[in-house]
Amino acid sequence: MNKPLDYIFPNPPADLDPTRLDPAAVPEHVAVIMDGNGRWAKERGKNRLFGHKAGIDAVREIIRCASDVGVRYLTIYSFSSENWKRPQEEVIGLMNLFATTMLAEVDGLHEEHVRVMTIGRTDELPKKTRDAFAKAWEKTKDNDGMTLVVAVNYGGRVEMLDAMRSLMDEAHAAVRAGRAPEELTEESFARHLYTADIPDPDLLIRTSGEMRVSNFLLWQIAYSEFVCTDVLWPDFDRYELLRALLEFQGRDRRFGAVK
Ligand code: IPE
Ligand code: IPE
Ligand code: MG
Repeated sequence: MNKPLDYIFPNPPADLDPTRLDPAAVPEHVAVIMDGNGRWAKERGKNRLFGHKAGIDAVREIIRCASDVGVRYLTIYSFSSENWKRPQEEVIGLMNLFATTMLAEVDGLHEEHVRVMTIGRTDELPKKTRDAFAKAWEKTKDNDGMTLVVAVNYGGRVEMLDAMRSLMDEAHAAVRAGRAPEELTEESFARHLYTADIPDPDLLIRTSGEMRVSNFLLWQIAYSEFVCTDVLWPDFDRYELLRALLEFQGRDRRFGAVK
């Protein structure tokens, strides 16, 4: 943890005590399914894009807070491989929002030593959006602070198929070169996922009251702790993150063994 708790959480609600957070037991990797932007906007009589814009403010706060409490990897589900099914206007609006936000935020993230990377099929994104993410990676790739993993055009099933294709290509190349293909193990498979080099999430948060995975990190969440909250994503602030972290710290992780 880089900063004191009362600095990170200056005005906690009465029912929440930030000093309960154990700095030594903060999850290394937090993954978030940021859901509910559309409903948040609807409640206010606004269009869905208004909700997505409000969602960006929540993302900014959560990135800063996660980094401050010592989370090492924060993965945010920003656009799924199924979200192309949405109205064209919303999809285009989101793609533009990703591009402008990334360009506007990259300097601030760099100052916080955050390293920004993506998982998902970024080659299928509009050029402007792809370039903005590439620029963020280029600028921040040597940073040693928190890694922000933006899951964009991400789908867990497609990721596994891409990994299998890559494994098969390697195996064929090995055979052509007269070598034995690499042995297939959990570790070798995981090295072909988009998340190679990223530890599995310890904590998975989903907002907006939904209790489903929606094709997120299917392989990686085998032993993640789930925290679901009814709060809609634009209302998810540092205190909601603190609640999730405290709930995580109260869990008993067994990984299939007996304790
Ligand atoms: C999540 O909010 C953001 C994205 C999927 C990009 P939604 O847009 O899914 O909001 P709801 O679920 O319709 O309220
Ligand atoms: C999951 O939310 C995807 C993201 C948060 C980017 P959705 O709103 O797309 O999920 P479903 O359709 O409710 O399962
Ligand atoms: Mg949704």
